[in-house]
Amino acid sequence: MFFSSTRSSSLGHHFVLPFMVLTHTGASVIRALLFGFTLMAIGATAPFADAQKVELSVDVSKAGAKIDRNIFGQFAEHLGHGVYEGVWVGPDSKIPNTRGIRNDVVAALKAIKVPNVRWPGGCFADEYHWRKGIGPADQRVVSLNPNWGGVIEPNTFGTHEFMDFLDQIGAEAYISVNVGSGTPQEAAEWLEYMTTAQPTTLAKERAANGHPAPYEVGYLGIGNESWDCGGNMTPDYYLSQLKIYSRFVRNFNPAQQANQQMLKIAVGPGGSEPRWTDWTEAIMKAYQHHTWSWDINGLSMHSYTVVRWPPSFKSVGFGESEYAQILKSTLDMEDLISKHSAIMDKYDAQKKVALVVDEWGGWYAPLSGSNPGFLVQQNSLRDAILAALNLNIFARHADRVRMANIAQMINVLQAMIMTDKEKMVLTPTYHVFKMYVPFQDATFVPVTFDAGTYTHGDISLPRVDAIGAKDQTGKLWLAITNVDPGRPVEIEANLAGITAKSASGQTLTAPKIDSVNAFDAPNTVGPKPISVKAQDGKLALTLEPKSVTVISVQQ
Ligand code: AHR
Repeated sequence: MFFSSTRSSSLGHHFVLPFMVLTHTGASVIRALLFGFTLMAIGATAPFADAQKVELSVDVSKAGAKIDRNIFGQFAEHLGHGVYEGVWVGPDSKIPNTRGIRNDVVAALKAIKVPNVRWPGGCFADEYHWRKGIGPADQRVVSLNPNWGGVIEPNTFGTHEFMDFLDQIGAEAYISVNVGSGTPQEAAEWLEYMTTAQPTTLAKERAANGHPAPYEVGYLGIGNESWDCGGNMTPDYYLSQLKIYSRFVRNFNPAQQANQQMLKIAVGPGGSEPRWTDWTEAIMKAYQHHTWSWDINGLSMHSYTVVRWPPSFKSVGFGESEYAQILKSTLDMEDLISKHSAIMDKYDAQKKVALVVDEWGGWYAPLSGSNPGFLVQQNSLRDAILAALNLNIFARHADRVRMANIAQMINVLQAMIMTDKEKMVLTPTYHVFKMYVPFQDATFVPVTFDAGTYTHGDISLPRVDAIGAKDQTGKLWLAITNVDPGRPVEIEANLAGITAKSASGQTLTAPKIDSVNAFDAPNTVGPKPISVKAQDGKLALTLEPKSVTVISVQQ
């Protein structure tokens, strides 16, 4: 029999069984009943009478590209409290830290297995001069951060501190070098300073500063938004710079040279208008023969969910109209990726060059009372759903989109973590990244479904979204999002190429579309166990309204 996980109690209410792997064995049924009675006893109910039905078809034998773990990358710019206070508190701080880097933040980031961190910007990168951020802390150059609030940049968090941070969280370095106001020589010397194992003067200086062993730099960003804050360049002008930087800015780390070279990422588009498609054309055409070691390996793309510029939508305290508009707008990512991928395919049919979405996320009005240059916003349940929808889009384009960096990691824009002095809270977006960890380096499995439609006023968008993946042990994972804030969805998933014995998972929702996690109420939006029924090659589960669910299937 094909059970639904929603049952009517004798009182006519509906309730959902809690975390429970339902199988057709007698023992499981008894366990399920016990859990059900427990819930009835505590009066747990859910108004699921109006559930919509959506059927998913999952064929594990049709597995596709690898979902590169790098699509779960982070971005840490010297901006507001993203680095200072968010990551760096200094070794003398009362906030527990390891060599100045806060321990609570490191523990939280380790749990989401951050693959890479992009640093030091953003717009900041094209004004960053690395020498100011090395050497004894009390002798560092104190400069300004004109991009972001014009505040003091103490340079106490520099190359060594960044690499130490990466080491503590277990992530790779994605360094953005300064093309706008720097020189190829400055960038080349930074890379030599970081990566050579030979006893050069720069390597000796690195050793004197505490790190004799060469660092690894996995990814090199050559400029940032060079069409805008990175120097307002034309495609041709940028291309002439790109050719020089990609030739002379080398990675000398012997381990990396033996293995895989550092991947070089060119500045790419920031939208879908002709201006941006021309940019993609120019770069891809120039590198179409892809023969030389100084060729590029990635093309960056930036796309924020904004709706209107400057960002005016509220990050908390909004209504359903803003909820629907933002989520509809975030789905533009699909068209944007398709459009630029098509241009890339023209010049790079073998997909050697990755599309790197290294800035994405919701960008809203600054929180009232905050420095507008610090890009401080709240992070609500809507952002969790927005994150899931974008991660799903990246996964569906896994053959081309092999890296992405949400903007930004801490205290800035769509952050994973928010801090206030010694306090720290994990955002709804953080929890989605954690739930999606099994998708890192898993193999994409196509899921077909009729999503239905969620409509609010004149805004309509697909009600349900879903992706599948097979991890390295062969286990099937499904991520399913119910965008509709008012109606639950009953999922029936037909599985081919796998015999499902049981399934389990977690779901994330909250009382309101704009529920947030606050320092004094940190668990308002967080994952909880969900009941899944597995039988006769099918799964059945009920998605709560406005929820993100990840389940695994045991065979
Ligand atoms: O993430 C904030 C800013 O947005 C970045 O510095 C810049 O690259 C983009 O415009």
